[in-house]
Amino acid sequence: MKGIILAGGRATRLRPLTSVTSKQLLPVYDKPMIYYPLQTLIDAGIKDILIIIAPDYSGQFLNLLGDGSEFGVHFSYIVQKEPRGLADAFVIGEHFIDGDNVTMILGDNIFINQNFSESIKSFKSGGMIFAKEVPDPERYGVVEFGPKQEVLSIEEKPVNPKSNYAIVGLYTFDSRVCQAAKDLVPSARGEIEITDLHKFYLNKGELKVNTFTGTWEDAGTFESLLRVSNEVAHFQKIADKKL
Ligand code: DAU
Repeated sequence: MKGIILAGGRATRLRPLTSVTSKQLLPVYDKPMIYYPLQTLIDAGIKDILIIIAPDYSGQFLNLLGDGSEFGVHFSYIVQKEPRGLADAFVIGEHFIDGDNVTMILGDNIFINQNFSESIKSFKSGGMIFAKEVPDPERYGVVEFGPKQEVLSIEEKPVNPKSNYAIVGLYTFDSRVCQAAKDLVPSARGEIEITDLHKFYLNKGELKVNTFTGTWEDAGTFESLLRVSNEVAHFQKIADKKL
């Protein structure tokens, strides 16, 4: 299993915080944001990790993270010249994936006290995504379930969401994802969409959707960035007391 952290993009919503650095390097309590998705991959036993970054602050990522040896893993880097969409990771990352299965996590997605290691380690083929009930599903990819928990539909940021289940930014696919990503056409907002890759596997009857109830934040707004820092601080204090 290979790993990808998608840490490019422009993060215009977080300016001026992101005027001279990248969103994924901003502090979340006591660590840079990217440490959290990195830990999720490391916890799942993934050792070969590609970090996709934007051109502007690529040197800062290298200075901070190096070759991965400090974390007991190996890092590769690719600069994504333009934010063409989440699915572009599997186009520019094709050589890195090299026919293996791959788990991608978004560089601004933070899971606290969650371990996806069992699901990821037992993954064989197809696609596997995770969903969580949220109060504001219109901000996310949304999955609709039928009475037997079967997937009825998947939509990207629907105006009228058919359920409250947001698809979180952690995805495991087999290597067919690379060709599927190359075949995608950009959506109305001009991006190649990760949700179209979910549909590729859904249409083949090979998409598994796991729901979970733990703490998850997409730290892409001022509010969620502040909230997740407080949540991390809270959980760390609890963990410290137990020691
Ligand atoms: O957070 C979960 C959501 O992430 C999912 O529910 C959605 O289905 C998915 O499309 C995505 O939505 P976002 O609106 O949060 O995506 P955003 O454009 O913020 O990009 C997510 C991360 O990926 C962010 O850290 C920037 C990075 N990125 C984004 C694009 C479009 C790249 O590195 N390259 C890109 O081309």
